[in-house]
Amino acid sequence: MTKLDQRNHQCDFCGKSKEEVEKLIVGDEAAICNDCVELCIDILKDEKVKTFPNSHKLLNPVKIKEYLDSYVIGQDNAKIALSVAVSQHFKRINNPSKDIELEKTNVLLLGPTGCGKTMMARKIADYLDLPFAICDATGITEAGYVGDDVESILTRLINEADGDLEKASRGIVYIDEIDKIARKGESASITRDVSGEGVQQALLKMIEGSIMRVPSSSKRKHPGSEIQEIDTRSILFICGGAFVGIDKLVQHRKEAKSIGFHASITSESDQVNYYKDVTTKDLTKFGLIPEFVGRFGLHINVDELTVEQLVEVLKVTKNSLIQQYQYLFELDGIDLTFDNDSLLEISKQAKEMKTNARGLKNIIEKVLLPYQFDAVDLVERGLKSIRISKDTINGTPAIMIFDKKKNEQKQ
Ligand SMILES: Nc1ncnc2c1ncn2[C@@H]1O[C@H](COP(=O)(O)OP(=O)(O)OP(=O)(O)O)[C@@H](O)[C@H]1O
Ligand SMILES: [Mg+2]
Repeated sequence: MTKLDQRNHQCDFCGKSKEEVEKLIVGDEAAICNDCVELCIDILKDEKVKTFPNSHKLLNPVKIKEYLDSYVIGQDNAKIALSVAVSQHFKRINNPSKDIELEKTNVLLLGPTGCGKTMMARKIADYLDLPFAICDATGITEAGYVGDDVESILTRLINEADGDLEKASRGIVYIDEIDKIARKGESASITRDVSGEGVQQALLKMIEGSIMRVPSSSKRKHPGSEIQEIDTRSILFICGGAFVGIDKLVQHRKEAKSIGFHASITSESDQVNYYKDVTTKDLTKFGLIPEFVGRFGLHINVDELTVEQLVEVLKVTKNSLIQQYQYLFELDGIDLTFDNDSLLEISKQAKEMKTNARGLKNIIEKVLLPYQFDAVDLVERGLKSIRISKDTINGTPAIMIFDKKKNEQKQ
């Protein structure tokens, strides 16, 4: 048989003859049967799982933390713990083992308002090259009630994965404001608790890992919409919340324990971070059901920011608040500067408001508002720069420097 005849009659990969296979695809130089094509597809699929995008760079938690450091001030423990959690997740999904089943460790992130919880999640999402959905628990209700049901979280993740279910099933979901689905007091057990316990029950299944049915098209299910199934076993869930008031629960518990023994007196001004001592019992007392809390293997807390850290938030971080305002004024042609003691004053006031970095923005907005309003007029009159001093923060007008020539020309 000549080479050409042979090619028309048998697979060059497995050697089976044309009669032994369903289809033989014949090219210029070689032939392949349908069985070998299918085998090749399987090999390629396996490869795809092993070489998930950017897996090499993401396996190093030190690099993730370095990236977070350029945006998030302080919170070292939280940054380390989150970096490790995310890189372990990558290890797990990129190296499935036949012998050992690698269980995921979902993360609960607690801490006071305005300390960087949501920000860290967003920055990690930017850094990672994998589907990362950030959702809010506030609007989630039990299925059948007005609002989004828990499946909407998965719809979001699938959208982040451009509709690729396989990719989505290895992604990360951050559910913010998780404390908002706590049971609302004792009455919750009598009346139907639309946004509390019922939602926790619904989330349980998804977070632990199960096959969930998600409508593929619109947000709400409607008759005829296509349903797709997604396995949530490999999805990493990170839930964050401020749990306002839980620090008091911890404090009471600790004080009750120490009465009569080594009772220590702590004053209001003592900065004790009760969030780091939060136990499962405290979370249950707060209104999370024990089964829900049990699905989180790792509890991470963020700390209150000190005045010095608030100053750093203002001026040191990439994309800091000061840089943002300077850019906005520059667009009007105004050079905006802040004296160092003005930054300290803003930070001290924010600290007093107990809203951490959130307060910074409120204070600056209030101070800059009149100048933002008049900017166009002022520039026409020759305004070159605005200097914000400590006094400006407390109500005295800012120091404004005008271009004399322009001013004279105008008159
Ligand atoms: N540690 C930090 N480093 C730098 N900026 C921060 C930090 N914490 C907060 N910020 C700034 O404050 C803003 C609000 O922070 P973020 O949304 O992360 O707070 P949060 O901890 O999620 O609070 P909440 O519990 O109220 O949702 C951020 O957009 C950011 O500008
Ligand atoms: Mg937040």
